[in-house]
Amino acid sequence: MIREMRAAIFDLDGVIVNTAKYHYLAWKCLANKYGFDFTEADNERLKGVSRTQSLEILLEIAGLSFDDSTKAQMAVSKNEWYVNYIRHMDASEILPGAIEYLQRIRAKGIKTGLGSASRNAPLILERLDISALFDVIVDGNKVTKAKPDPEVFLRAANELGIPPARCIVFEDAEAGIEAAHRAGMGAVGIGNTRILKEADIVIPGLFELVVISPY
Ligand code: BG6
Ligand code: MG
Repeated sequence: MIREMRAAIFDLDGVIVNTAKYHYLAWKCLANKYGFDFTEADNERLKGVSRTQSLEILLEIAGLSFDDSTKAQMAVSKNEWYVNYIRHMDASEILPGAIEYLQRIRAKGIKTGLGSASRNAPLILERLDISALFDVIVDGNKVTKAKPDPEVFLRAANELGIPPARCIVFEDAEAGIEAAHRAGMGAVGIGNTRILKEADIVIPGLFELVVISPY
């Protein structure tokens, strides 16, 4: 599968940078404020999906309902906590092997894209100074449908000018793996095989590919 790759499209949170833990902590702050809790297993459902969708999932788990304006305020609060975590991030938060793998495949002529649900992607890329590693950047500010909808990956492939069947997606979220497959792309899971059951292969991190990939 990886031998046919002409473009690699990377999720950001949990694949390139260690921000998944900050999303989790910020949602925990919100849960504490509103008197509910959620588990690490619940948290897997929040990965890859949009901020508003994540909130809906949490409220469903908690069995709570609020009016739209309260929910909008909750999403703002969560994002304020999240941005407070990430605003001081530096390159030490980049996950092992990410830079090396991106540089390696780019040197081999493979196109690279970012396909993230996050509206904070521009801030993260700027903090870490890694925008230049991507030929195209598609984030939560540019798409209307959240993963598992394939829009973010199809748009990245289109902007790259590479057919979806020749693109491989790198994802740490179940919703992202489903989005990749719905886009007609291969999906490399980053993380736990038990959770990312639908991925074509699962590796613990991009550092693994720096060692084993022919690219
Ligand atoms: C995804 C994360 O990358 O971005 C989700 O995996 C998050 O957990 C989503 O909800 C939206 O992020 P943001 O930064 O726009 O709130
Ligand atoms: Mg992710």
